[in-house]
Amino acid sequence: MIRVGLLGCGNVAEVIASEGTGINITALYDFEHSHAEHLKELTGAPAFKKFEDFLSQDLDIVVEAASVGAVYEHAEDVLMSGKDIVILSVGALADTDFKNRLIKIAEEKNRKIRIPSGAVMGLDNLKIGQISPMSKVLLRTTKSPRSLRIETNEKTLVFSGRADECIKQYPKNINVAVALELATGHDVEVELWADPDIKRNMHEIFAEGDFGDFYLKIKNNPCPQNPATSYLAALSIITLLKNLEKPMIIGT
Ligand SMILES: NC(=O)c1ccc[n+]([C@@H]2O[C@H](COP(=O)([O-])OP(=O)(O)OC[C@H]3O[C@@H](n4cnc5c(N)ncnc54)[C@H](O)[C@@H]3O)[C@@H](O)[C@H]2O)c1
Repeated sequence: MIRVGLLGCGNVAEVIASEGTGINITALYDFEHSHAEHLKELTGAPAFKKFEDFLSQDLDIVVEAASVGAVYEHAEDVLMSGKDIVILSVGALADTDFKNRLIKIAEEKNRKIRIPSGAVMGLDNLKIGQISPMSKVLLRTTKSPRSLRIETNEKTLVFSGRADECIKQYPKNINVAVALELATGHDVEVELWADPDIKRNMHEIFAEGDFGDFYLKIKNNPCPQNPATSYLAALSIITLLKNLEKPMIIGT
């Protein structure tokens, strides 16, 4: 059974720990040690105070559900130590030099970097953008002003432009745009809206190309413990982990 280490023990990790029946969580790390201790109670896995001790455990894969900063700090070491990594804070990979460095290490070490679908759907077949021309990929994300940490009483366009610029201003909110760029191999235009009337985070994806055109709208339910996090993001990691060892792979 694949041995999983959780790097980051917040909302997403808590859903993985509590709902990921059959997932073999064997080590926990969070720079807020109390968060790791909390998940220790749920999983029985040891919680480490030092990242080095966490990483020296017998793990097959480390699941990052922490922050863009955690990816910068730890992803290279994870791969260097011969473990695969799941990166949920995919905004870190908007930095092309950093992304290429990780890919090089993964190749050298014969390891995989896995990017979950996170808070959206549709990444599977949008990968055709890597082999067939696309003329447009647009992500329109709408969130409450509170989750964007701004104040407004009316629907407001807070950002319009390139994904890599958006992630610099809203590192916690637009991972999806970077995941879309990685999937399609195409620049993604981003519109980020704050809407005081919206109850759930909404992502709309528009794509056009030689294949035809595509539109997807997803309204995300929040995590039970914290409304800021999309439940779907946690479910997408559970699904990814559960499919790793299956003989039949669907929708890649
Ligand atoms: N790709 C997507 O679609 C998608 C969807 C949802 C969340 N996310 C990202 O996933 C990450 C986790 O989300 P969450 O809602 O569980 O966040 P959270 O804030 O609830 O939990 C993050 C945990 O990681 C810990 N942490 C942060 N930086 C760390 C570091 N450098 N080293 C060790 N621990 C660190 C925090 O103490 C916290 O316990 C966030 O970066 C979020 O932006 C991505």
